[in-house]
Amino acid sequence: MADINSDKSLMEKIVSLCKRRGFIFQSSEIYGGLGSCWDYGPLGIELKRNLKNEWWKAIVQERDDVVGLDSSILMSTKVWEASGHVSGFSDPLVECKKCNGRFRADDIPDAKICPNCGSELSEPRQFNLMFKTFMGPVEDAAAVTYLRPETAQGIFVNFDNVVNTTHKKIPFGIAQQGKSFRNEITTGNFIFRCREFEQMELEFFVKPGTDMEWFQHWLDERWNWYIKLGMNPEHLRFRAHPKEDLAHYAKCCSDIEYLFPMGWSEMEGIANRGNFDLTQHSTHSGKSLDVFDDATNEKYIPYVIEPSAGVDRGVLAFLCESYCEEPDKDDTRVVLKLNPRLSPYKVAILPLSKKEPLASLSKEIYSNLRKVFSATYDDAQSIGRRYRRQDEIGTPYCLTVDFDTIEDKMVTLRDRDSMEQIRIPIAEIESTLHAKLGF
Ligand code: GAP
Repeated sequence: MADINSDKSLMEKIVSLCKRRGFIFQSSEIYGGLGSCWDYGPLGIELKRNLKNEWWKAIVQERDDVVGLDSSILMSTKVWEASGHVSGFSDPLVECKKCNGRFRADDIPDAKICPNCGSELSEPRQFNLMFKTFMGPVEDAAAVTYLRPETAQGIFVNFDNVVNTTHKKIPFGIAQQGKSFRNEITTGNFIFRCREFEQMELEFFVKPGTDMEWFQHWLDERWNWYIKLGMNPEHLRFRAHPKEDLAHYAKCCSDIEYLFPMGWSEMEGIANRGNFDLTQHSTHSGKSLDVFDDATNEKYIPYVIEPSAGVDRGVLAFLCESYCEEPDKDDTRVVLKLNPRLSPYKVAILPLSKKEPLASLSKEIYSNLRKVFSATYDDAQSIGRRYRRQDEIGTPYCLTVDFDTIEDKMVTLRDRDSMEQIRIPIAEIESTLHAKLGF
């Protein structure tokens, strides 16, 4: 079978499935849509939340050396001056003198010729990607503030608060998930590049000199996280940034790239930011942000290793990775072979008939199971069609309640991937699902 990720129409199929089944909708769709912003529907929010929960579990819950944070999106403008975003967070913008098309100069084959109409392009000018807004009722220069373009700065400016309240010692990390905003010149490839998106970022503070060891540690951890959740290693690769491409704050950086349908593209960046950020904030705020080393009796500003993942890019990658088309009888079966931890629903309850006594019994099973697993109920159309619907949204198990169930108190459990069916007692549904799902 050809590798599905080399299928150029895969993105169209995923966009269509996402809309049809309620994973992802275009923002403001009834008004014609707002480019580069997306709304997660009932299934999309479950998938996205599961991905974020897996990250939180691996990064915060299971580690003794990381704590969480949820800082505000709006911060003092001084934060962005100190971090270098006001002066340096920009992309080179070129405009076509004829069709007025706007492009990122480093995104097009020739920065002098319009890729739309072939006319001359303007000289590149630096375009700042931060969204500007005003705080309070007066829209003057003093009221200017920015929507954060990364969650990271909220962590740096709370470094001292976290150290003082948790008494964590270096090495330790602060993790945060949340929305970020960038006024990207060009957007596209569905949820890959948006103007409003979510990040999952860890700032892991270390002693200078141990930074490259920790950098390698986080490269390995993050790679293994994707593999554990079901990524084919052949669809992942590291890309080390050449020195000239490094962000203004980075000492070195490697991306984890995924083989998206449009080609290899960044899913997560892992950077060694040195002590750039804490030094900047210390200098600009006048507050000391150094730590005391008990072993050497010296003070120093920690270095930081930053694994920074895009939630939306993760969602897209796992959708691409799990999408399968399998020949089945005279038809094609579309299956999202998601890791069950990511699946929106873990189990679907499907009564063979809408009528009594099957309906009451099925609803009772559903109501009990919902307390333990994210579950759904479907009694519309034939059982074959209902299995297909669950396959398409990645539900790992279906439970069918049939007329024999009334007598023998057994239900049919169907496995999404193998399509194997077994009969199990109602009393053992919960334990069987725990055992099969592994959680
Ligand atoms: N704090 C470091 C930082 O923000 P970045 O490489 O600019 O680094 C980190 O962004 C991750 O955020 C990227 O790897 C990507 O997954 C996600 N990301 C960045 N810009 C994005 C956009 N416009 N749309 C969706 N995701 C984006």
